[in-house]
Amino acid sequence: MKLARIPKKTVDIISTIFNGFDGALIVDEKGQIITITENYAEVCGLNREDVEGKHVLEVFPKSRMMEVLATGKPIFAELWEAGKETVFVTRVPITSNGRIIGAAAVSVFRYMDEARSFAKRMKSLDQELEYYKSQVRKLSGARYSFDALVGTSLPIVNAKSHAQQMAKNKAPVLITGETGTGKELFAHAIHQASPRRDRPFIRVNCASIPDNLSESELFGYEEGAFTGARKGGRPGKFELAHGGTIFLDEINELPNHVQAKLLRVLQEGEIDRVGGTEVSYVDTRVISATSANLEEMVAKKQFRPDLLYRINALLLRIPPLRERLEDIPLLSEHFINTCNYELGTAVSGIDPRVLQAFANYEWPGNVRELRNVIQRACLNAGSDIIRINHIPNESARFINQKHEPASMNLQEHLDEVEREFIANVLKSVRWNRNKAAQILGIHRTSLWAKMKKYDLLNE
Ligand SMILES: Nc1ncnc2c1ncn2[C@@H]1O[C@H](COP(=O)(O)OP(=O)(O)OP(=O)(O)O)[C@@H](O)[C@H]1O
Ligand SMILES: [Mg+2]
Repeated sequence: MKLARIPKKTVDIISTIFNGFDGALIVDEKGQIITITENYAEVCGLNREDVEGKHVLEVFPKSRMMEVLATGKPIFAELWEAGKETVFVTRVPITSNGRIIGAAAVSVFRYMDEARSFAKRMKSLDQELEYYKSQVRKLSGARYSFDALVGTSLPIVNAKSHAQQMAKNKAPVLITGETGTGKELFAHAIHQASPRRDRPFIRVNCASIPDNLSESELFGYEEGAFTGARKGGRPGKFELAHGGTIFLDEINELPNHVQAKLLRVLQEGEIDRVGGTEVSYVDTRVISATSANLEEMVAKKQFRPDLLYRINALLLRIPPLRERLEDIPLLSEHFINTCNYELGTAVSGIDPRVLQAFANYEWPGNVRELRNVIQRACLNAGSDIIRINHIPNESARFINQKHEPASMNLQEHLDEVEREFIANVLKSVRWNRNKAAQILGIHRTSLWAKMKKYDLLNE
């Protein structure tokens, strides 16, 4: 092999150094390959001995080594196809006494591998992050739409249509109403119907966060903000709800110092994490709910008037159940269906006398109370229809208190008692009609007739 102007000793030294790299190639001033690293030759599917001594363009027709030799200018970090690999290659001229006597090309496959696996890991982390984000969205997202809000009474239809209007813009909404009226359901539905429906819906129950944590819970904190603060800090609920909706449930429970900070977020759209120095902009819609009277709280200096003014740009009042008693049959049917589905009961309906009793009750716990009563009645009824005797004792006491003298005549009451007695006897003899008739002291055909009358045949 002719080494042209580069002395053998120099080539040896350079080769030794270059062998430390994965891919290196040296040509002389004419472009003849003086040396190539084993690794480079292998990646290109070549034999090292066959290559050395050949002209670089003969081996690599697209090589730019001749350009380096001609111009004396290096070409840095250019993408180069070396066999199956794509690598970055840097080409530099080799000079001696101001004369170009050759050129060297260097690339590092090892780093490329690492770069590639790094890129792959980044990609899979990205995918993982996207997956977790979607899970968070699913878990914390809004689950109910307006369709889930049962009721055809004028007050509920009005509330729904107001809420639907509110869904269209970004102004803060304050939902008021007694406990169990469906405030949370409405908050979900507004988010679901809003242009933000594909973004997060984050619920914060202001009553359940300890006072000293509510600021960091809402606005996040930076590393070292307080003892026990997590490394790297943590985003707050406002940041998590960016682009979506934050639902501040039981907002009346928000401590005073947090009220001040919330006011700023609502005014400026800016948050600063606890212990942080930078502010960041968040685009989060605020829906708050309360069953407390915030005006009274303002009068008692328990709630900031300026905050109340901000959060109730749009005010949605959910009427109590006693103002929409005509919804009870539909709601009852709805809860029977969900019970059958969730608890595996097979309740087929509800005795009109039960509905009548319901209509005479005040329902201080509103829809939630109705749901609970129906749920327990379903478990008692099994596969029957819900009758007065299926209503749990403690509820029956309240529900009956107003209606009893008026809503049942003597015969109805006697029927009720007779039905329950017969059902209990039948149960005690595992529905053996002969034995039951014996115990009851009536004929079998008469028992059958009564079972038919009281809808006990399918038990
Ligand atoms: N219109 C409705 N249709 C169907 N279910 C309803 C309706 N309103 C309320 N509910 C049900 O009643 C229960 C109570 O509703 P929700 O939790 O939204 O009440 P709330 O006003 O937030 O009560 P609280 O003030 O006690 O938090 C829930 O199980 C909810 O699904
Ligand atoms: Mg609620």
